[in-house]
Amino acid sequence: MPGDQRINNRLVFGTLFVSFIFYSAYVYTAGTEAAHLPQMSEEASRGQHVFQKYNCVACHQFYGLGGYMGPDLTNVISKYGAAGETVAATFIASGTATMPNLGLDPTEVQDVVAYLSFVNQTGTYPPKNYEVTWYGTVRQEDDPQ
Ligand code: HEC
Repeated sequence: MPGDQRINNRLVFGTLFVSFIFYSAYVYTAGTEAAHLPQMSEEASRGQHVFQKYNCVACHQFYGLGGYMGPDLTNVISKYGAAGETVAATFIASGTATMPNLGLDPTEVQDVVAYLSFVNQTGTYPPKNYEVTWYGTVRQEDDPQ
């Protein structure tokens, strides 16, 4: 009947409206901080500024994004095991044949290494290792054979 239909429409509209209000309130009040990330130390935070000041990203990447003259630095600290911070500091302080010595002072080196250690804890890159088979398909390393 037309009367019942009108009540039904109101009920549907009312439910959607109330849902909209609660959902909007939730979306606009929920924090945006990522709780799973480690807290960035003072030192690492200064190191982030050092990283920006010397434009390390012109040659390096985090998570595959950046310049491609040097290697990805996302996990450079764990790449060298326990010596990671020392190795990274040496690269940065002295440069190599292909990486310029940018003339950072010792505190800047220490801070930027702390920043690299922080980034190292945020995740793994590349997230998966793939193997290209001889017939052109791609197999993930942990796929069953
Ligand atoms: C002009 C390009 C360039 C800039 C700018 C640059 N790097 Fe490099 N970096 C390289 C290259 C190329 C290598 C590889 C060097 C080698 O293996 O001899 C490298 C290597 C490294 C490594 C060792 C990576 C590994 O996997 O062994 C670290 C750590 C590093 N750079 C940090 C930095 C930081 C921090 C900055 C900014 C302060 C920076 N780089 C700026 C080109 C650059």
